[in-house]
Amino acid sequence: MTESKLEAWLEETRSFAPPASLAAHANAQPSIYDEASADPVAWWRTQADRLTWDTPPTKSLEWDLPNAKWFSDGTLNATVNCVDRHVEAGRGDKVAFHWVADVDGESRTITYRQLLSMVSQAANALIELGVKSGDRVAIYMPMIPEAVVAMLACARLGAAHSVVFAGFSADALASRIQDSDCAYVITADGAIRRGAPSPLKPAVDEALQSCPNVKAVLVVRRTGADVNWVEGRDHWWHETVDRQSDVHVAESFPAEQTLLIMYTSGTTAKPKGIFHTTGGYLTQTAATYHYIFDVKPETDVLWTAADIGWITGHSYIVYGPLVNGVTQVMYEGLPDSGGRDRWWRIVEQYKVSVLYTAPTTIRTLMKWGEDLPAGHDLGSLRLLGTVGEPINPEAWIWYRKNVGRDNCPIVDTWWQTETGAIMITPLPGITVTKPGAAMKAFPGISVDVVDNDGNSVGNGEGGYLVVTAPWPSMTRGIWGDPQRFVDTYWARFPGKYFAGDGAKKDDDGDLWLLGRIDDVMNISGHRLSTTEVEHALVGHPMVAEAAVIGASDETTGQAIVAFVTLKLSAEQANQDQAPLIEELRQHVAKVISPIAKPRQIILTPDLPKTRSGKIMRRLLRDVAENRTLGDVTTLTDPTVVNMIAGLMGEGGED
Ligand code: WTA
Repeated sequence: MTESKLEAWLEETRSFAPPASLAAHANAQPSIYDEASADPVAWWRTQADRLTWDTPPTKSLEWDLPNAKWFSDGTLNATVNCVDRHVEAGRGDKVAFHWVADVDGESRTITYRQLLSMVSQAANALIELGVKSGDRVAIYMPMIPEAVVAMLACARLGAAHSVVFAGFSADALASRIQDSDCAYVITADGAIRRGAPSPLKPAVDEALQSCPNVKAVLVVRRTGADVNWVEGRDHWWHETVDRQSDVHVAESFPAEQTLLIMYTSGTTAKPKGIFHTTGGYLTQTAATYHYIFDVKPETDVLWTAADIGWITGHSYIVYGPLVNGVTQVMYEGLPDSGGRDRWWRIVEQYKVSVLYTAPTTIRTLMKWGEDLPAGHDLGSLRLLGTVGEPINPEAWIWYRKNVGRDNCPIVDTWWQTETGAIMITPLPGITVTKPGAAMKAFPGISVDVVDNDGNSVGNGEGGYLVVTAPWPSMTRGIWGDPQRFVDTYWARFPGKYFAGDGAKKDDDGDLWLLGRIDDVMNISGHRLSTTEVEHALVGHPMVAEAAVIGASDETTGQAIVAFVTLKLSAEQANQDQAPLIEELRQHVAKVISPIAKPRQIILTPDLPKTRSGKIMRRLLRDVAENRTLGDVTTLTDPTVVNMIAGLMGEGGED
């Protein structure tokens, strides 16, 4: 289809049916919704049969709001499900991971049989160090295979892992180790970033000064850099793990054994230790992976381009995929390590069939231009996914057109650290998708959009997203703080899980996620989403990225302030700033409404982002409201906010 035809067609339909070839063989067929809704708990029990149980559960759900137990009398071992059973079934030579290093040309191939040896050796090493069932182990590692092995080795022993993203500071690591009282840390000397070593061990050493309960640190050598060594506490992985027997007989644990803790930010400064248990979490990560990514284990090569330091890496690099026994790409580097076309070279080389990533990355790739994907054979791709934030339709279309060559369905998946697995998503062989909409609850999941009083809103209306029935991979709570669990998620609307996100049901009843409700603005009594205004700005041909906040305003309550990066700087495009800013304001007025017109637009070369790629609107709000800046330690580049403050001072105001 030519570009103009595509645009005309888009204008007319704005929706995309699944390709017939995919629909015919899709794992999820249209009857799935009715089958699940007839008896969701029973349907989830059948999904639990994807797992190998030592004792199959006779119980499904026990629900004492807000405490859920799923499959509680069943017993199993998570890693037997991820690894052993595939080897036992004769699939030991199947590749589990094509690991691609940050450095161009470096890679490792790990089969399921090799993975079993690695996990068994690591489990034996952890036993030697004293790890036992019920312990907590912090993992602070780069994206190397040993990170996955470390997680699985903990799980094999019934110890909960708490993976802390390797971009976090020593302080953040220390507070997480303390909060769940981890007695062990697994780390590496460093990470490799765009070819250069970036140390990790010094942060561990610093953190452990305030963590006296840590008994042992296991250190993978990745960079070869000199490291400080604490005799008796520190152990090299290659000395401790490699000499172990590669046989380890897995024990069976109850379904409700804690599998993992993952810290996530809340509205207060203290991160919440969200924890997940084994049976329900594995059931839902495995089922969602199977249906949403339409997994064909024999032929697919799947790539979740995320970090294991976040829940996406846990659920869709480690547990969901390994339970399904698939072959994956695991990539250590940044999108431009070794060149801006690095991703497309990886897709081409490994014939990746399913790619799952975040909108912010898509927008970065978009900024780098469509010539890069066009220069590579991406014909192996058959399905694309996004997660983590609302995707603006422009990025969605760009992804579909330039990466998916207009014939790959896009699954825009909504979920949270707390939900453990995907909750709202299209199903690739069924759903007629709309750019920017996550569409429908996954089978067996009940969600709603409610107003301030908790009443369901009608089609065409917006409100708060809630989950109205328990689900297998729901968090079992906040580590050590059951009251905060109740207050944060269950107090706002009695009986319902409050997700903290705004959402809208469109005229067809399909769901659009509108971003965190803390990002919802109230302008002269009109409720507007920051996301909506950002979408509008990004829809302007000159705009690359936009972050919008509601800054307090004497007259209107809040006023919209937009921070905008351009595809080309105004100078490069031979445009004066003031007329361009006015053009952008008018553009927003035209796309949404005059009430959505930003009071102020700041053109900036960069936006403050966390290391997971989220724009830190809180800091932008501080800048816009002339407050002293809050915590900037989680930013990739803390200088960006000061630069923006400077730009505001120069008079971006019109
Ligand atoms: C946002 C990431 C819109 C949302 C798996 C949620 C999304 C938060 C989407 C959770 C999506 C995630 N569309 N917003 N498809 N997916 N979000 O815990 O605001 O890092 O509450 O989990 O990301 O972020 P978290």
